[in-house]
Amino acid sequence: MKLPRNFFRPLAIGAPAPPRELPVRLERMIHFVPPHNDKLRAKVPELIKEVDVVLGNLEDAIPAESKLAARAGFIELARQNEFGSTGLWTRINALNSPWAFDDLVEIVGAVGAKLDVIMLPKVDGPWDIHYLDQLLAQLEAKHSLKKPILIHAILETAEGVMNVEVIASASPRLHGMSLGPADLAASRRMKTTRVGGGHPDYKVLADPGTGARPAHQQDLWHYTFGRMVDACAANGIKPFYGPFGDFADPEGCEVQFRSAFIQGCVGAWSLHPSQIEIAKRVFSPDPAEVAFAKRILAAMPDGTGAVMLDGKMQDDATWKQAKVMVDLARLVAAKDPARAGLYGL
Ligand code: GLV
Ligand code: MG
Repeated sequence: MKLPRNFFRPLAIGAPAPPRELPVRLERMIHFVPPHNDKLRAKVPELIKEVDVVLGNLEDAIPAESKLAARAGFIELARQNEFGSTGLWTRINALNSPWAFDDLVEIVGAVGAKLDVIMLPKVDGPWDIHYLDQLLAQLEAKHSLKKPILIHAILETAEGVMNVEVIASASPRLHGMSLGPADLAASRRMKTTRVGGGHPDYKVLADPGTGARPAHQQDLWHYTFGRMVDACAANGIKPFYGPFGDFADPEGCEVQFRSAFIQGCVGAWSLHPSQIEIAKRVFSPDPAEVAFAKRILAAMPDGTGAVMLDGKMQDDATWKQAKVMVDLARLVAAKDPARAGLYGL
């Protein structure tokens, strides 16, 4: 374990100091783009206005023969666009692949100053974060970058879940984590071929002798969410839900996103344009809740004491809950004029 004062030192001479606080950004959806696809790359200028984060995907779903084209396409996409308040991320290949090293060296060298976050797949333990942390510092120093690039880990291996707390505290560069249900299911030998969502065979059956014995599906991801959200919240980084693979089931996607949101996640991945609006709907706070939260803040200007609002007790803790809600609404309002009106902000 590093001493606290060393924890925040740059890992290479000339690299920028790692951040003490995460930048305040709206990240309701991380929108995946396959950068080797010319048609989709051409749509990026439009996408930048629509989404909170544009991510160039280099890992799974990119065929082996297109890996270099995807890398080059991402560099071109980053060079040719201005992103404003929209985040620019890439998901590099896994560290045990033949592509990860060149993904990093070439992308940071070419467009490191524009890149906000590197998403690292298949993180098993803090050693993966330490490796990337050191390499990024060397590259930042080499290319005289002023702003540190953040790391976002995908939680998608059984070993990663076992080590989730130490992963979350491995580096001040950590931005957050996404739950990756597809690789995680494979790693755990779960008996599902779905990408996220529930499964009809994972259920609880009412007791015998109670008549019709209704059965209800349970949430396959509940345990992992709990561990991930606690590890992230305890370390001041952000938890996300990952992909929902059934594009023909917008309702299933919305329910999956919403249960992530309710449990503390701040966003999810959108793999298909139809999922962008679902993520906006889910990860933007409910206008009625925001209106009530504004009343709580107004009723308790210094955030202490106890008051009653509509018969409901409010105190220091509900004031903090209200502040989370109103702060988020302000971020949404700044990016999304249609919603600004709904929040009266
Ligand atoms: C995402 O990468 C997943 O494996 O679910
Ligand atoms: Mg995966």
